[in-house]
Order: sequence, then C-alpha cells, then structure tokens
Amino acid sequence: MGNPLTIALPKGRTFAETCDLLRQAGYKLPDEFDDTRKLMIDTLEGNLRFILAKPLDVTTYVEHGVADVGIAGKDVILEKEPDVYEVLDLKLSKCHLAIAGLPQTVANGVVQRVATKYPNVASKYFKEQGEQVEIIKLNGSIELAPLIGLTDRIVDIVSTGQTLKENGLIETETICDITSRFIVNPVSYRLKDAVIDEMASQLSRIVEGGTT
Ligand code: PRP
Repeated sequence: MGNPLTIALPKGRTFAETCDLLRQAGYKLPDEFDDTRKLMIDTLEGNLRFILAKPLDVTTYVEHGVADVGIAGKDVILEKEPDVYEVLDLKLSKCHLAIAGLPQTVANGVVQRVATKYPNVASKYFKEQGEQVEIIKLNGSIELAPLIGLTDRIVDIVSTGQTLKENGLIETETICDITSRFIVNPVSYRLKDAVIDEMASQLSRIVEGGTT
C-alpha cells in the first residue's frame, strides 16, 4: 500500500497505555513496538505508519501534516494551540495541571517567578488572575526550581502526586484536568476521511465501553 495512514504517538510515561488502547481497538502493533528505539515503524500490512515522538512534539508533526493523526495530551494542545482537529477525548493518561510551591513560600502568598514546561498556559493563567509573574521555561524536572531557589512556584503536571510529595512541595491550585486526545490534520481528514473515521470510531468504541 503506497500511502499509509501515519499516526504520531507520544513516547514516554503514557506510551504503554496508548499502545494498550490501540491494541484493544484492533490495531496489530508489531511485537518490537514496546521496547524499540526505532522512531518510525510500519505495520506488516503496510497500511499504518507510526511515528514515535516526544510528547510535546506530537502536535507539531500532525499540524505540519507529516503525521495524519496523533495522540496528544491536552496539556500539549493547550500549550501549542495547533491547527488540528481535536476529534476524541480518549479519557486516558488522566492527570491535571497544577500550581505548586514550597509550604513556606506558599504561606506568604506572593508569586513572582514560575518555572514550567508550559510557558503559554502558565502566562495565560496568571494574566487571567491579574497577577504579573516572570515565567521561566524549563524542559523537565520542574520540581527542582523552587528547591534551589530559582522560582517560588511551578506549573506542572500532577499525576500520582508522588513527585510533589517527595520534593516537599504542595499544590495550591488546579488549572485544569488533562487527558489524551485523538487529533487529526485537517487536510489529511479531507483526503483520508474514511480510514480516519474508522480509527476514531474504533477508539471511541473502546473508550466509551470503559475497558481501558
Ligand atoms: C511529569 C511531571 C511531574 C511528574 C508528575 O514529569 O512533569 O514531574 O511527571 O507525576 P506524579 O504526580 O505521578 O509524580 P515526567 O516524569 O514526565 O518527566 P520530566 O520531569 O522530565 O518532565
């Protein structure tokens, strides 16, 4: 088959759940899938191509049309505001975006500097609250920033709460709940609507069936 449907998947903490969902939806992922260091994998039938991407890059591949569809966290969608269709809430990889800080800093109520992987989300949120803060973009291990005195707050994903707890941080506010979403490139949707609709409906069947 000459023109496979290309799907970008986020490699990382949510990858196993994403693979489970696709398998339950009837997609035969190659055996090597779960442990591979390969970044692009075709199915044996040749009708599907997987791009294994960094979570924050999934929307970029889909927006540029090098992937027809993708599975992206709502956190990434809010941060990047990509020009893609958000077709389905997969109700997967549930977590939330929160503000946190050290108890002693939180107690005085002043927010001056905020570390985050989500500068756009954070800056929008604090603007809406009428607070003027300096946003410092980091690429990971955000919880380190208040510990070493870089910032007085962080905006980050909280899943189990373990990372906050182990670093002595407390959550002060929830910004929003986060789940994975099925996203589609608008041009791909015009050209490959049947196969994309089929994938959306297979995924939806599993999600609504509550078996994930
Ligand atoms: C994410 C997030 C938090 C942590 C939250 O980081 O940025 O640090 O997970 O999870 P928890 O509430 O279950 O502890 P990730 O592990 O993706 O790595 P990163 O720090 O490199 O971003």
